[in-house]
Amino acid sequence: MQVKVLGLSRWKGSEQTLVVFMAEGAPAPMGWKGGEASLKRLMVAVRHEGFTGKVAQVALVHPEDEDPARRVLLAGVGPLQGLGDEAYRRGAAVACKAAAAAHLKGVTILFPEKGDAGKVRRCAQAIVEGAILGSYRFTAHKTTSDGTPGPLEHAVLLHPEDAGAKEINAGAALGEAAANAAVLARDLVNEPPSHLTPQKLAERASKLGGRVRAKVFDLKTLERMGMGGVAGVGRGSVNPPVFIYLKYQGSKPKTRIALVGKGVTFDSGGLSLKPAESMETMKCDMAGAATVMAVMKAADALKLPIQIDGYIPAVENMPSGSAIKPGDVLKLASGKTVEVLNTDAEGRLIIADALAHAVKEKPDHVIDIATLTGGAVTALGTGVTAIMGTDQALVTALIAAGEAAGEPMWQLPLVKDYEEMLKSRVADLRNTATRKEASTIMGGLFLKDAVGGASWAHLDIAGTAWSDREGAYTQAGATGCPVRALLGYLVKVAG
Ligand code: BES
Ligand code: MN
Ligand code: ZN
Repeated sequence: MQVKVLGLSRWKGSEQTLVVFMAEGAPAPMGWKGGEASLKRLMVAVRHEGFTGKVAQVALVHPEDEDPARRVLLAGVGPLQGLGDEAYRRGAAVACKAAAAAHLKGVTILFPEKGDAGKVRRCAQAIVEGAILGSYRFTAHKTTSDGTPGPLEHAVLLHPEDAGAKEINAGAALGEAAANAAVLARDLVNEPPSHLTPQKLAERASKLGGRVRAKVFDLKTLERMGMGGVAGVGRGSVNPPVFIYLKYQGSKPKTRIALVGKGVTFDSGGLSLKPAESMETMKCDMAGAATVMAVMKAADALKLPIQIDGYIPAVENMPSGSAIKPGDVLKLASGKTVEVLNTDAEGRLIIADALAHAVKEKPDHVIDIATLTGGAVTALGTGVTAIMGTDQALVTALIAAGEAAGEPMWQLPLVKDYEEMLKSRVADLRNTATRKEASTIMGGLFLKDAVGGASWAHLDIAGTAWSDREGAYTQAGATGCPVRALLGYLVKVAG
């Protein structure tokens, strides 16, 4: 979707569709530009339709005298008190969906806020994100249309005060980069697993462009690098594993961040095979990898003055005659040996390898993103990411970035006493605990062993990367979470 910012004085489009936001129970839409008579008729018309201004409620009206536009699309943002960015994100998304359903190709969105520069910037960002994300569809593999009209192709963000133009433009640019990155992550995650093998993922990573450089290590090389976890998990598939290293270097970077993303392009569970139903969505098991790729592309688009090192172990977890077996022992890049008791706890094996390599370069902070445990879905559902870490300041900063992006995170404790449960009788570690408890924490504890004393945070996105339900600005399927949260964190770090 194309998004443009335009000053009201330059707008000549009364024949178009104008999206205006309205708070719950307000006497008029925000920033209303039409006449009094038109407003009165509009308010009566929408009240008749039951429109009250609740978040994500919409109403399409055709003002009699086309004042201020041929069509006015009201978008609810909820109560004025406590009105935040998320309401605008949802409102804009639902308005764009409604416009598309009415067979429109574009809308003009009247900017609602004024005053405080930060507020104006964040609001513009949220609206642009909502418009782009709400207009996302994954149609790459459809050969026939199901009759539903296609998504919007363009949106114009109309700003009334010239004073806020700079802030609105800056916010819109951020929103565009963030939402486009989330769209890239969604596309990668939605792609069928046999279309996106480890090798194909590496090809996509190599084509990110800009200042993002990629190096791809094949099986032989990654074995030489000591990555027994990646090699071991990959052994069961005809599609060999690869290790992808990405580097983005902004100008004069003061901070170096390492991002590690789980790239299991399909997780069958291996010989500890998943039941059919649990396997249906397991193409999403490379969402961490997609997040790393998308965030790095956006960092480049925004020319952030930081360095990002991306580490993606990419592998297919399959059962076969050559697959690792429960009871097998692998040697990780950290030097530790692991007894693999459940081949379905494969993520920690490959992430541990990647983390060991990431910390060797001594970055300021290391963040791994992984669809690691079903326990994260059980505990927090599809709306909240589980976060753990060794550096409370880093965890707190990520939680704040999640909050701002509408991608909330909740911290779980890395309970020291539980480490005992990861000790093996045959090797240094075992990949699943002796008891089926606290699996998300156990996953975090396993990874912690590979990071040493580094400043590290672990995001378990098993619940949030994928949803089987449509949301205000998501479709069923890949969500693109937590791309925008991470990007927001990096923008803050870059200063
Ligand atoms: N990829 C799964 C986790 C997952 C579950 C992601 C649901 C998305 C949605 C992971 O590899 C896995 O299978 N984890 C096991 C670990 C267990 C065997 C310790 C789990 O959580 O059941
Ligand atoms: Mn698994
Ligand atoms: Zn997995």
